[in-house]
Amino acid sequence: MAEDLKIIEGSKVEIYLSLIPQIKGLLDGEPDLVANLANVAAALKEQFGWLWVGFYLVKPATAVDGDKELVLGPFQGPVACTRIKKGRGVCGASWQNAATLIVPDVEKFPGHIACSSLSRSEIVVPLIKNNEVVGVLDVDSELPDQFDETDKKFLEEIVAAIKC
Ligand code: SME
Repeated sequence: MAEDLKIIEGSKVEIYLSLIPQIKGLLDGEPDLVANLANVAAALKEQFGWLWVGFYLVKPATAVDGDKELVLGPFQGPVACTRIKKGRGVCGASWQNAATLIVPDVEKFPGHIACSSLSRSEIVVPLIKNNEVVGVLDVDSELPDQFDETDKKFLEEIVAAIKC
């Protein structure tokens, strides 16, 4: 089955309004989480051309202390750090607070984890199931101040459409 994404030019809102039904179409009827995360990362990367788009999932830590940590999941972009502890970096803070974080300048975010030295701004959206964070969507841009309330609203809608 061909799965072609229709890429458009336009305002950010117009782009999301075109993209979201296509993403929902890709997710529709597919129960496999990894397949769905992979396609969402690819669709966002293809449409927006951001530096890095991907997911970290809450999984058991390698240490035997029973903790959990974020582990790298499906993504598009440069290779990235594989494990992030709760509260660490933007991803770990989003997990800890169960909230979307917009970082206009990563150099001003205390504890930011620089997986790529090219990253200048970032947005992280938690995936929430049964009131618990089960992962995060992380998006990085090479340009400063690239993410705003429009991205928050639509990326939260996209993440809510993923059945975890
Ligand atoms: N910058 C993130 C780490 C993940 S990479 O950007 C892919 C953070 O501070 O949590």
